[in-house]
Amino acid sequence: MEIIYDIKVVQSRCEEVRRSGKRIAFVPTMGCLHEGHLSLMREGRERGDLLVASIFVNPTQFGPKEDFAAYPRDLERDAELARQAGVDILLHPTVEGMYPGGFATYVNVEGLTKTLCGESRPGHFRGVTTVVCKLFNIVQPHVALFGRKDFQQLTVLRRMVADLNMPIEILGMPTVREPDGLAMSSRNIYLSPAERRQALALIDAMRQAGVAARHGEQHVRRLVGLVRERIGREPDARIDYIKICDGDTLESVERVDTNSVLLLAVYIGRTRLIDNNYIFEE
Ligand code: PAJ
Repeated sequence: MEIIYDIKVVQSRCEEVRRSGKRIAFVPTMGCLHEGHLSLMREGRERGDLLVASIFVNPTQFGPKEDFAAYPRDLERDAELARQAGVDILLHPTVEGMYPGGFATYVNVEGLTKTLCGESRPGHFRGVTTVVCKLFNIVQPHVALFGRKDFQQLTVLRRMVADLNMPIEILGMPTVREPDGLAMSSRNIYLSPAERRQALALIDAMRQAGVAARHGEQHVRRLVGLVRERIGREPDARIDYIKICDGDTLESVERVDTNSVLLLAVYIGRTRLIDNNYIFEE
């Protein structure tokens, strides 16, 4: 595996590989790699002749009061994990390389970015779509892999690729969880032991809503009520949103069907956690 900092070098290397008829698979990340990221890389290894991953903590997707500066960074550890997962090229650009002076162009997906995390994190998805569009132009992958853990991000990126005619297959991958069910996230390391225990309320609440739905409860208002009640029992939990939406349009629904997704964002102490599940999926 090669670690390459220079965007132009990666771009010309990928162009060469593409021209030789080989398939390129791509996994963008912000580093602090865990099994969730590594599952994408392993699948990418199967899907491409060349596997490219990127590690870039993207400043444009963080709000002014968010954790950009504090976001965990450990290139040495990440590089070793990426190498073991089969990555060929690890792109690790600098902020100046990605956003040189005079940078002025942003990609914005409308509609889908107005709700859920877009509502609590204004500008977040504009940063995500801009950086992913740039990374796609650098790597020009045939297939790019993203986690369903960030369900709205995946939906927004699918929209971007369709709307801008990018010839890239977007592959959504299942959420990887800790043995006790907590969705893996780079931000889990912020949780104190007591908060870590309380964080299980998210998965517990999602399970309870799933059981109720499978037993015939169709009303979103009541299902959301169950989730709210379960999470509200934790002293350090503060609900950002709990919503049940259509899995394609992200529009709120009143009654659940097989395409309904329960999405939630909850602060446990100062750490904001997100999770989601198709309501009828166990
Ligand atoms: P990051 O949070 O590092 O996540 C990189 C990829 O890993 C995303 O596709 C995310 O959905 C996936 N992922 C994270 N946790 C996961 C889990 N527990 N199971 C499965 N997949 C998981 O998402 C970003 O970075 C950034 O917004 C990025 C797309 C790189 C743009 O900067």
